[in-house]
This record gives sequence, C-alpha cells and structure tokens, in this order.
Amino acid sequence: MCGIVAYIGNQEAYPILIKGLRRLEYRGYDSAGICLLGENLNIYKCKGKVSDLETFAKGKDIVGTIGIGHTRWATHGEPNDLNAHPHYSGNEKLAIIHNGIIENYDSLKKELIQRGHEFKSDTDTEVLIHLIEDVQENENLPLAEAVRVALTQVVGAYAIAVLDKSDTNVIIGAKKGSPMVVGIGKDEFFLASDATPIVEYTKEVVYLEDEQIVELRRGQGVKVRSIENEVLTPYIHELEMHLETLEKGGYEHFMLKEIFEQPKSIADSMRGRYHIDSGTVSLGGIIDYEQKMANAKRIIIVACGTSWHAGLVGEYLIEDLARIPVEVEYASEFRYRNPIIGEDDVVIAISQSGETADTLAALELAKSKGATIIGVCNVVGSTISRITDAGSYTHAGPEIGVASTKAFTSQVTVLFLMAMRLAHKRGSIPESRFQQLLAALEKIPAKVEEALQSADLVKYIAGQYKDAHNFLYLGRGYNFPVALEGALKLKEISYIHAEGYPAAEMKHGPIALIDEEMPVVVIATKKGSYDKVISNIQEVKARKGKIIAVVTKGDTTAAELADHVLEIPETEEELVPILASIPLQLLSYYIAVMRGCNVDQPRNLAKSVTVE
Ligand code: F6R
Repeated sequence: MCGIVAYIGNQEAYPILIKGLRRLEYRGYDSAGICLLGENLNIYKCKGKVSDLETFAKGKDIVGTIGIGHTRWATHGEPNDLNAHPHYSGNEKLAIIHNGIIENYDSLKKELIQRGHEFKSDTDTEVLIHLIEDVQENENLPLAEAVRVALTQVVGAYAIAVLDKSDTNVIIGAKKGSPMVVGIGKDEFFLASDATPIVEYTKEVVYLEDEQIVELRRGQGVKVRSIENEVLTPYIHELEMHLETLEKGGYEHFMLKEIFEQPKSIADSMRGRYHIDSGTVSLGGIIDYEQKMANAKRIIIVACGTSWHAGLVGEYLIEDLARIPVEVEYASEFRYRNPIIGEDDVVIAISQSGETADTLAALELAKSKGATIIGVCNVVGSTISRITDAGSYTHAGPEIGVASTKAFTSQVTVLFLMAMRLAHKRGSIPESRFQQLLAALEKIPAKVEEALQSADLVKYIAGQYKDAHNFLYLGRGYNFPVALEGALKLKEISYIHAEGYPAAEMKHGPIALIDEEMPVVVIATKKGSYDKVISNIQEVKARKGKIIAVVTKGDTTAAELADHVLEIPETEEELVPILASIPLQLLSYYIAVMRGCNVDQPRNLAKSVTVE
C-alpha cells in the first residue's frame, strides 16, 4: 500500500527519492510523485509507475537537498495524476505525502470550504494539508506545531511527511496507524514507510509510535513529541536488514527468487530453535509467556490472506500436538463481530508485514479484553511485533514479491515449532513421536531443495494449462490449507479464477463445475486421508476433469490416475504443507509469466495492507 520516503541532508534528494520509491514499489501502487524543495517547492506526479514519474520529471527543476516521495495505492479518488501525492496546500507553500485514511475528511473538507478553501483532488490527503495550512495561518504557528494541532482534529490513520517552502531546513513527519521509520545518517535524515529505502545509507533507525510527531532539522538531532506535546526520547535501533536481500540477484522476478530462497529462509526460521542433541525446541521470544500459552483455555489465531492459511495449518498443528483448542479467524471479521474473549485466551496474530490494519485492530481488541497477545511476524520492528506481549519472528528475510511464498513456509515452520514447544510443555505428545518430528524438521530445508528440482516439469505443466479459465484445488487435513493457498497464489498473480476446497466438500457443490475444461490440482500425499483423496481423484476423473496431483515421491497409485504428477519428498504429515506448497507456488508463477502478468506487482494488490 502507499509508500512514503523523504530525505534531508547534503546530497541531492531526487536520486535518493527515486531509488527509495523503487524500493517501495513492492508494496503495490498505482501512481507516484515527488516534491523537491530548492528555490521553489516543485511537485511532479503522475499515474503509473516510478519509471513514468522519471520520464515526466526529465528536464524539469529537480534540484534540492530536501524532498518527499510517494507511491499511491488509491483509496479516496481514482488513480490519476491529480489524486497522486504530493499535494499542495491552498497557498502552495506546503506539500504533503500521506499513507492511511482520514476518516473524518468529509466533515473537515466542508468546514474548510466554508472558510474559503478550494480543492483540486478527491483525496482525503489534500484536506489534511489544507487543514494544516489553516491552523498555521490562523494561529500563526511554526510548521511542527501546526501539524500537531491539525492532527488533534483528525480521525483515522496516517503516516505523513510535510514540507514548508518558507523553511528549507526541516521535514515534519507524524504517524498513527500507518508505519513510519526515521533513518539517521551523518548530517542527513530519512523518513520512510519501512526500512527498505533507508538500509543503503544507514543502519540507525527510530520506529515512530502512534500519535508521535518527528521534526528532522538540519544540524540538529531527531526531535520527537507526542500529539499531546510531550517531548519524548527516541530509541535508536540497529537495522538487521541486508541490501542484497532487496535485489533480484539474477532472477527474473523477486517471486521466483523468493521461491528458490526457501531452503535458506526455512533454515533461518528454525535456526537456534531446535536442538537435536538435547532433543528439545525453544523459542526465545515467547519464553516468558509459554506457561500462559500452555495453560490457555483457547488459542485464537487472527490473520488475513496467506497468513490466515498458515494459521489454519497452525490450528491443525497446535490441536494435534499440544491438544489446546484453537480457532482461526479472519482478522477483519473478528474485529467487528463482538467476539467472546477472556483473560485465559491467547490470541496469536500472524502477519508477514506486521502492519496489516485488520490484524492490528483484531489484536488491539483482544488486548483490551485482557487476552495475552502473541505475534508471528516477519518484519522486524513492525507495529504488530511491537504491540504484542511476546512473539516469534519468522526470519524469512524481506519478501518483495507481492504474492507471499517464503513468508508462508516460514510462518508454518514457526507455528510447527510453537506447537512442538507447547506439546512438550504440556506432555501431550509421546517423547518418541516428538523426537521423530524433530528429526523430520531438521531435514526439511534439504527436502525443499529437492522439491524445487521439479521446476522444469512444473513449467511444462503450466504451459498446458495457462489458458484455463478456472482451477480447482483440493486437499484434506493438513493439505486443505495448502489447497486454499495454492488457489490464492494462482488467482492473485495470473488472474485465473481458482478455488480451494476440502476434497470431501467437492461433492457438495463444486463437482458440478467439473468437465474436460477444468484442471483440478489435488494434493494427494501419503498418510492422513490418502485413500480418501484417491477416491476424490477417481470422482474427478469420472467427470473428465484434468488432474494435476502433488504426490509423495515414488507413489504409483495416484500417478496412474492423474494426468500430471508432481512429486515431493516424503516427510511427516505435520510438515507436508511446507513441501507441498513448493510446486503450487511454482505452478502459479510459471502460469502468470506465460500469461504476461506482472508477477511481482499484480494489479490492484498491495503488499502491506495498511488500511482496512
Ligand atoms: C497473498 C498475500 C496476502 C497477505 C495478506 C496478509 O500472497 O500476500 O494475502 O498474506 O495481505 O498480509 P500480512 O501477512 O502482511 O499480514
């Protein structure tokens, strides 16, 4: 979703802003813009990509050592040049970029119109900069103070950066609900939605908290105040991110790179958390809350999209191994349906970005009812990771492709470790089984590597079905969430309609869709309900559906029935979701590429969904 970047220092701002916007492209956007403060306050913005913005800005005045840049994911007003950020205030002396939604923008706009303000765009953001201007002029306040006072009138979410033509030495930032990071360099500052535009220049960052305002003034330190005007001491963090993780490293797309990174990302998720010698599992981040989790009356998992699918696998794992009742909820439903939550409940939020607005709100609700809140996040320092009582990072490294791949398998890995830890603590699993699972876990990265070797075969199968209009994905037990995830991957990047179903549910409706035109992907790995899945394959076959089966290496029964077979190495049933996801990720990737789709930035999608 919208990305913001800002710079003030001794270097020319334009190349830093453009590079920063490129780093933020992965978040998803439909227009881009910059504002540079030199002799003038120049805004350049247009619908389309950052490259379109560069073309547009060519030959224009792009001089200045202070500037702000934005990628917009449209909420209020269609994606066009006018609605793109930055926006000027009415007198064109101020400029703003914004990520979030000003919920009371309509009433604010009406009041401002009555006071003579005129608006050029349909955005809530333009209303905010007019409000700041109004406060600044009427109350004769310096910019930082005008921003603070204006924000006290705002309902909604924001991460903003503001420039003032009359003060070329300062950028004001503020945040509530949307993320914002300050980078501290030598005689220079950066401001961004996440650390990706900053890491190249400095590793020292400050994560702003909600309702904080930051003043970045040349020659001075970072000044942070609360919206109540309390002076705060910023806490400087050291970034762990590495620049090479933000580059494609020779792959055609980030998504392909991230699929192939999984042997490493999964190993990173496991590192230091399983101990073959002592036969134990430990998760440092939740150690103080383990007992509370083990005693929980109920665990509720809240998440969205792919993370919700990982949550479903988590439900099966925790119930199976630790014998604690688990419910998995869409965060967007949970937050609005008046759920029953008590102090004995533990709520686990799963989120790659750690910024998803619905997941965040669901957690806040759970916290307000006294539940213990635990995070499973990928982005270090993200909002969810900071508001939770405890948590385990997935350590998958930055995921740039909008379609989640390595983040999913790392989430499942961490949930597996959590379930194992809780099971050990509760004594709900025989020791021999625990050791068997631990030994199987250790081999997973190598088996993922092996599963990736099917890439050429997957590519061939993709070529056979790239023009299909629909796909069905079926699985049972642990493979049911895998079917859902496989279908989501395909639809989001190839725009082919795809549905995931529990295989047995097929008879209750979707079977009506099956004919010779319908490819059906069946995850038919050994163990679990294998025989029953074979019957489901027979049912599809009888109706002339085309079967693409994901099977355990060496399986001949499913192979005889299926039109195409994709083998994965044998492992314990609880770990199959990790391996079975690999060929499905590859299938969606190759189909999307063959259909000419923008794999890394699919239409309408945002990587970090910071609005509800
Ligand atoms: C799909 C995908 C989304 C995200 C969802 C939640 O490939 O990436 O469905 O899983 O938007 O995002 P996070 O995990 O950041 O909370």
